[in-house]
Amino acid sequence: MGKAVRLDKFLADAGAGTRSEVKKMIQKGFVQVNGTVVKKPEQKVELSADKVEVNGKIMGAAPEFVYYLLHKPAGYVSATEDARDKTVLELVPCGKRRNLFPVGRLDKDTEGLLLITDDGALAHELLSPKKHVDKTYYALVDGQVTEDDVKKIAVGVDIGEEKPTLPAKLEILSVKENLTNEGAFWQSEIRLTIHEGKFHQVKRMMEALGKKVTYLKRLSMGPLVLPKELKKGECRPLTAEEVNALKKTDKNLVK
Ligand code: URA
Repeated sequence: MGKAVRLDKFLADAGAGTRSEVKKMIQKGFVQVNGTVVKKPEQKVELSADKVEVNGKIMGAAPEFVYYLLHKPAGYVSATEDARDKTVLELVPCGKRRNLFPVGRLDKDTEGLLLITDDGALAHELLSPKKHVDKTYYALVDGQVTEDDVKKIAVGVDIGEEKPTLPAKLEILSVKENLTNEGAFWQSEIRLTIHEGKFHQVKRMMEALGKKVTYLKRLSMGPLVLPKELKKGECRPLTAEEVNALKKTDKNLVK
């Protein structure tokens, strides 16, 4: 015997419409269960056994969990609700209805890859400090990042926590002197791969080196990479391969 759920819930979860929209469809006689029109939204259907049709179109069972890869733009907070700010869930289809949530946080001004799901167990695994899932960021930093900074980051720096940060990998992409009306200033582009997820971690690591992050973007998390074609504010469902790779994610060490 499979799991029985209310017909209106089944249809809403399967993406046929909101709960009130599907109720109306049912009451108007647009929905058939096993070939018979059913007008009661509360009627139970069994996911594995019953054939449910809306206007003759067979509705598949809703997946147990959904996974979206979002290219987070700046200006959105990584929360499910916020009284003041726009949340990342506003950028994901059926974000509210399915109780989706972001896996971890990116600061309001940070851009880049954010995983959104309703799979609590997977989120817990990915965020577990023991798992050390690696995250790679691109950053623009005021000042000249040096080889000495690379060495310090490789060992761990003091960001005011009980222990220094875990060894991480800092790559210098460019160091340039910019000339402006206010004078000349140095700016560096870096890539930083960390294995923890402390609050404001990248910004605090750079601060520990006496430098300020002025732009931050997450490029990857574990096996997930921000796709080049995914524009800011867009999201797409993870592929089956990506979901499998995430589920296999174990300890990723600095290479
Ligand atoms: N580190 C930060 O400082 N901010 C982020 O949003 C992510 C990592």
